[in-house]
Amino acid sequence: MTPAALWSLTNSDGTLNLTFLRVINQVNPIMLALGAFFAVIGVAQSAGGILLDASIPRVTPWFCHDQGCPRYTVKSSNDKFEIRNYEPSVWVATNLTVMTYTRAESTMMFYKLFGYIAGNNSLHMKIAMTAPVLTEVYHGQGPDCESNFTMRFMVPFELQANPPAPLDPTVFIDRQPAITMAVRQYGGFSTDELKMENLVELTEALDNATIPYLGNMFFTAGYDGPYAFKNRHNEIWVVPM
Ligand SMILES: *[C@@H]1O[C@H](CO)[C@@H](O)[C@H](O)[C@H]1NC(C)=O
Ligand SMILES: *[C@@H]1O[C@H](CO)[C@@H](O)[C@H](O)[C@H]1NC(C)=O
Ligand SMILES: *[C@@H]1O[C@H](CO)[C@@H](O)[C@H](O)[C@H]1NC(C)=O
Ligand SMILES: *[C@@H]1O[C@H](CO)[C@@H](O)[C@H](O)[C@H]1NC(C)=O
Repeated sequence: MTPAALWSLTNSDGTLNLTFLRVINQVNPIMLALGAFFAVIGVAQSAGGILLDASIPRVTPWFCHDQGCPRYTVKSSNDKFEIRNYEPSVWVATNLTVMTYTRAESTMMFYKLFGYIAGNNSLHMKIAMTAPVLTEVYHGQGPDCESNFTMRFMVPFELQANPPAPLDPTVFIDRQPAITMAVRQYGGFSTDELKMENLVELTEALDNATIPYLGNMFFTAGYDGPYAFKNRHNEIWVVPM
């Protein structure tokens, strides 16, 4: 079975469609923006730690480091993928429908969300960064069609019951129900090529395991800022049906 997810990712000769690779390019702007953010957070922490998430210690995956990240249990795993049951979660999100998703679009989306946690919210409060930066790609059929991109930061747990409202009208609070995800994990600095390779590996492994999944969308999850040089972690998610 050729997954629909790969329909617009491959050329007719089966090679990867580099136009689409550029469409999901978002690594560099996020890295740059996160760099700016961690510079800010460093200053704030040295000025009294006001941005630290004060929630009680929990057992979280190592790759979350000291940041809040969505809670899940592992339903099953093998060397190709992991099936995770995520608990309900609350995110701040912004979305865009475009034919080409370039650095300009991803940077703009990142800074809208960054603006929210930096204080552009109804309480004018600074909000701790969480992980991952999650980007949902929902693509239409055909080579020249628009795709929907939604970028999300998880709202820290202590604010999830009542998150401050975004002031930017293009930013919204997004309550996600419990959901099951098929996840492929990889280390290092992610690139478009690595995202694509891992999406292909994940969907092939799911096909081999005869696990059906939504074929017209996927997520990329990045857990680290640009100045983390060790123990970096990235994921590709698809939704099993
Ligand atoms: C963005 O998300 C909102 C809320 O889910 C939805 O109503 C809207 O259609 C989406 N816009 C785009 C451009 O995808
Ligand atoms: C993207 O969002 C727009 C506006 O909400 C919607 O009309 C369109 O069908 C969506 N396209 C895809 C591929 O999801
Ligand atoms: C803050 O919110 C306003 C809307 O009140 C929006 O126009 C502006 O772009 C936002 N600024 C940032 C830095 O996100
Ligand atoms: C899927 O199965 C085929 C045939 O057994 C095998 O060659 C391929 O490596 C498998 N792919 C993955 C990602 O498991």
